[in-house]
Amino acid sequence: MVNIGVLASGRGTNLQAIIEAVEEGRIEGEISIVVSDNPDAYALKRGKQYNIDTQYIDFKEFKSREDYDKKVVECLKEKEVELVVLAGYMRILTPHFIKTYKNKIMNIHPALLPSFPGLHAQRQAIGYGVKVSGCTVHFVDEGMDSGPIILQQAVEVKDDDSEESLAERILREEHQIFPQAIQLFSQGRLIIKGRKVFIKEVNLR
Ligand code: GRF
Repeated sequence: MVNIGVLASGRGTNLQAIIEAVEEGRIEGEISIVVSDNPDAYALKRGKQYNIDTQYIDFKEFKSREDYDKKVVECLKEKEVELVVLAGYMRILTPHFIKTYKNKIMNIHPALLPSFPGLHAQRQAIGYGVKVSGCTVHFVDEGMDSGPIILQQAVEVKDDDSEESLAERILREEHQIFPQAIQLFSQGRLIIKGRKVFIKEVNLR
């Protein structure tokens, strides 16, 4: 059982997928808090609907990004969070945050990293003309979308795809691999060696 804290800034469809996976037993864990930097994030509403504690933290009340992150970390610690899940969280974490939860922070990115990091990954993919894109779940390090890769799923880019249509197909896959990666973490099956993440086989006896 892993105790999960989710950080989200927007609509929260990945949060929803994770909540459903917890409810259906596909993740052995519990979401103990949803934190957002956006008071209007639909993710906060989704959390509340499922009786999960939610917390909006106003960036403007803090002097620096470090101070803001210290507050977020404090919230997560209070809930004894063991795994921090970034589900559409629009802030870059400070080194203090990353050190505190070293190898215990996961992010989902809507491209096959290391291609197209940063914002508007689907737009970047269409603009570049790739035939295949997809999504990546990775551990978070100090860089931008650069930490060790846990799971990836490829998605075909069609000739007539718009940014929106591609984003929609990628999103469906995000909703599959993010809960899977969290479950692997919960089962203690993710072994990080340098840049690589090895997935331990389960011992069937
Ligand atoms: C997703 O596309 C995810 O890959 C990116 O932000 C978006 C969040 O969507 N990091 P949602 O809020 O989970 O619906």
